[in-house]
Amino acid sequence: MSDQAAPSPGPANSNPSGERGPVLTGQRLRIRPIEWDDLGHVCRWWNDARVMREVRAERFSVTLEQLQSEYWPAWRDQKPEGPGRCQCIIEFPIRAGAQPIGEIGWSLEQGTEDSGGEVHVHIKVCEPSLWGQGYGREALRLLVSYLSDHPTLSAYPIIGEPGDWNARCHRMLEQCGFVKVGAGRFTGNAWCEPCAFIRYRHGR
Ligand SMILES: CC(C)(COP(=O)(O)OP(=O)(O)OC[C@H]1O[C@@H](n2cnc3c(N)ncnc32)[C@H](O)[C@@H]1OP(=O)(O)O)[C@@H](O)C(=O)NCCC(=O)NCCS
Repeated sequence: MSDQAAPSPGPANSNPSGERGPVLTGQRLRIRPIEWDDLGHVCRWWNDARVMREVRAERFSVTLEQLQSEYWPAWRDQKPEGPGRCQCIIEFPIRAGAQPIGEIGWSLEQGTEDSGGEVHVHIKVCEPSLWGQGYGREALRLLVSYLSDHPTLSAYPIIGEPGDWNARCHRMLEQCGFVKVGAGRFTGNAWCEPCAFIRYRHGR
């Protein structure tokens, strides 16, 4: 028998309020905070070239062990109002037997507008066979509604910055009430190749 400890979720969430993110239920899907048991799905998604090439991250790869040791501690302790990204899972369908089909999250970032900050939203529907069927739109609308009603996050503009090639994402953002307000260039990071992006702002 191995004397190595099995990976575990570690200590309970250190966020005193205990709220790691919302549970939002739409017509077809539900959004909920990420759990330890989701890491296997995230590992599959983040190593799926079909998904990652859409965000110019096809050279990125991750192991389950990295997700457990490097990513999970921040996700375990996350709070909706930051710091860092609040990472949630999109589940479908909402009845019994729901399966994770993607991820959605946001982070409070230093703003480029005169607002003291801005909320950046991120979304991936990670099952390519489900693209183009309105799931992204439904999930993003749920999130925008949550952010718009949040006691502190509602003070900030909601921003999306997809790559300039990502027409499906542009269309989804526009259908969710975002308007194009600019453009820019990522210098690249461990995730993403250097690339051009379009800046969208929710028009609430
Ligand atoms: C972007 C993404 C979240 C959108 O989710 P989705 O469920 O596919 O989106 P929806 O079906 O709600 O909306 C997409 C819209 O774009 C349209 N569309 C699809 N392909 C398109 C294309 N090549 N050009 C223009 N519009 C396109 C769809 O027809 C749909 O519009 P419609 O409802 O008017 O027909 C999803 O495709 C995804 O996760 N892609 C990979 C990762 C990614 O790109 N994430 C976004 C980073 S910002």
